[in-house]
Amino acid sequence: MTFELTHTDPMSDARAGTITTAHGQIQTPIFMPVGTCGSVKGVHFSELKEQVKAQIILGNTYHLYLRPGLDILKSAGGLHRFGGWDRPILTDSGGFQVFSLTGIRKLREEGCEFRSHIDGSKHIFTPENVMDTERVIGADIMMAFDECPPGQSDYSYAKKSLAMTQRWLDRCIKRFNETEPLYGYEQSLFPIVQGCTYKDLRSEAAKFVADKGADGNAIGGLAVGEPTETMYEMIEVVNGILPKDKPRYLMGVGTPQNILEAIERGVDMFDCVMPTRNGRNAMLFTYNGTMNMRNKKWEKDFSPIDPDGCEVDLVYTKAYLHHLFKAGELLAMQIASIHNLAFYLRLVSDARRHIMQGDFTKWKQGVIDNLGRRV
Ligand code: GUN
Repeated sequence: MTFELTHTDPMSDARAGTITTAHGQIQTPIFMPVGTCGSVKGVHFSELKEQVKAQIILGNTYHLYLRPGLDILKSAGGLHRFGGWDRPILTDSGGFQVFSLTGIRKLREEGCEFRSHIDGSKHIFTPENVMDTERVIGADIMMAFDECPPGQSDYSYAKKSLAMTQRWLDRCIKRFNETEPLYGYEQSLFPIVQGCTYKDLRSEAAKFVADKGADGNAIGGLAVGEPTETMYEMIEVVNGILPKDKPRYLMGVGTPQNILEAIERGVDMFDCVMPTRNGRNAMLFTYNGTMNMRNKKWEKDFSPIDPDGCEVDLVYTKAYLHHLFKAGELLAMQIASIHNLAFYLRLVSDARRHIMQGDFTKWKQGVIDNLGRRV
């Protein structure tokens, strides 16, 4: 994998670049739709390509390991061939899911023991077997196995947890270097910076990660309940230290406003369940603010969902989508998911265009207040 930084904003730390992987190029800044179990909920791959214009999607090691499992993924020749998605894939390591999804878990130096949310069976994730699993899934970008500590962790827990994440990172790198890709194309490993909301820990963590010389680096452990301003502060501390010539990925973030603020602070890659999850819940994101499609005010609004949007936005009206949500039709969730993902991809591509034109900050100031409105 390579990263070419092509433009930097004169007024901020925003950047535009190109990541080249074995499955094609990614123009940054980029948003990655979440495909937890190997599918982006409710959205066909053809729609992801043609309407959403997704350049890379995300899969989850935890979910894919439990179902369909490694035997099937290996027999299929990896996740790209199993599902038929031929563009880049990034896999999260399970470092977040085993800590957030599973109630019963035991954390120790070796790894994390947990019970499956499907059948209660017992499993252990270690840095070594997570690397092996991500090899089997065959993602272009594999994430290191980390601990994402709770948002309210005190300093002493945060420090201890970070030290273990760092030892786990060294074990991930060792295993990654000792193993080969299984399907004949290159895979990259991204380390994750932790350290909760403590500046000194974040800064130490960023230095530790920067020293590894990885193809790209991630910032984890944010958007877990801390104030938004604290999140931005942590991004600034970390991005001041992470290498400029490698992509930076902010994990699990966020709202359209969060994404623009993070782009301004030098982040290149994002993922979040918000566009799909909120979409299934009748909430649409637009440049004019968010819309609740269950609201009666749309009942007789026969204008297109979004005149500047993708195909579904032009084909369907607000009144029709309102009707579909009220009737509990599956199509409602599909349309809303496609709309929201297409909006997120449009947002980052507009940001990229303005970075390239040199007027990102001005553009961002003009759009950001409207994004938080309720229409
Ligand atoms: N997704 C959102 N935050 C995190 C994190 O801190 N670690 C991992 N592995 N995934 C995440």
